[in-house]
Amino acid sequence: MDLNLNEEHVLIRDAARDFAQNEIAPVAAHYDETGEFPMPLIRKMGEMGFMGIEVPEAYGGAGLDAIAYVLAMEEIAKADVATSTIMSVNNSLYCHGILRFGTEQQKQEWVPPIATGEQIGAYALTEPMSGSDAGTMRTRAELSADGSHYIINGTKSWITSGPVAHRLVLFAITDPNAQPKHRGVSAFLIDTTQPGFIRGKVEPKLGIRASATCEITFEDYQCPVEHRLGAEGEGFKIAMTVLDAGRIGIAAQALGVAEAAYEASVQYARERVAFGRPIGHFQMIQQKIADMKTRIEASRLLIYQAALAKEAAKSTGARYTTQAAMAKLFASETAMFCAHQAVQIHGGMGYSKELPIERYFRDAKITEIYEGTSEIQRMVIARNELKIR
Ligand code: CAA
Repeated sequence: MDLNLNEEHVLIRDAARDFAQNEIAPVAAHYDETGEFPMPLIRKMGEMGFMGIEVPEAYGGAGLDAIAYVLAMEEIAKADVATSTIMSVNNSLYCHGILRFGTEQQKQEWVPPIATGEQIGAYALTEPMSGSDAGTMRTRAELSADGSHYIINGTKSWITSGPVAHRLVLFAITDPNAQPKHRGVSAFLIDTTQPGFIRGKVEPKLGIRASATCEITFEDYQCPVEHRLGAEGEGFKIAMTVLDAGRIGIAAQALGVAEAAYEASVQYARERVAFGRPIGHFQMIQQKIADMKTRIEASRLLIYQAALAKEAAKSTGARYTTQAAMAKLFASETAMFCAHQAVQIHGGMGYSKELPIERYFRDAKITEIYEGTSEIQRMVIARNELKIR
């Protein structure tokens, strides 16, 4: 694996680092406290190309590669996980699927506003009764008698950026009799200003509080046939393909928060004196520092491996499901491990809102849950290795 970053990689990493540390980090606690959506930050990130890093310039993006994406994601998440979540949805869950499965017309119409950060995108897969078992969704899209549009009814839940999203990629059942059931799922591009699109209750959350999340109900929403993404019945495959890409972004986000927790811990272990010495001189603290650092660097390697596989897939079309799942699994558990150890190393100060450590702890947890829980990642990896379904 060639880990030499090229000039473009270094430029985007440094630009993301400067922006994250100078403009996001100072206001992250405010957005966490108030739960406000950080629209001014998102607009600026859009101007810098961060909301469509891998999107070709022709569709309003930065036209960079998969390594550039994970480098930028890591830096933004290091300052604030919530802001990086919004970035991740615009980049991966929304733009990636349209670029991969959309028509030329769809790419031109639906990608630029989201890739430039002028608008917010979302991805609506989960439902109140179908989370990990995504294929059992109930939201129904029925073709109208004249075949001009689909009539969509149903409820989606836990929609990241849902309260503010302008556009959505939605998954719904077009053939309720399909066997297996997932072959009856299709994907749609949704304009949230149209009648029948109803935003529901906003979820109060443990962490990533500035990343707004809500339920969305469709009541006789009319979606023109030309806004179907891919063929009828292709929706589940589209959803899974997009999640493969998305999981690499979540892994990079997890790496960012793990590093933030680690760096704060190293500094504290050097400065905090107990029993006449900085606490970093004690072996129990050293063990924590060593384990955090080792897991962080191992996560980075898995993330780069997955990002390189994703980049190669752009020409080969090969799946990188296992690499993405391994990167997300290991990096998200590393984020939780590091945040946990950071609280412990900081003692009472780790539990206080005076420092960002408790926020890292609350924010890290989501990376083990969304875009597929750790249990789902293990299932995906094992099934692929064992070649079973
Ligand atoms: N790429 C392409 N196709 C894939 C695929 C992939 N990675 N994984 C599966 N498929 C295809 C299979 O080939 C199969 O197709 P055919 O039947 O046509 O051959 C079909 O999908 C079904 O595959 P499985 O039998 O393996 O499906 P399953 O029902 O057993 O479920 C699963 C598989 C991996 C558990 C899947 O349901 C899953 O990933 N669940 C987790 C869902 C998830 O991650 N949700 C997150 C919501 S989004 C979110 O969190 C966003 C946010 O907030 C930021």
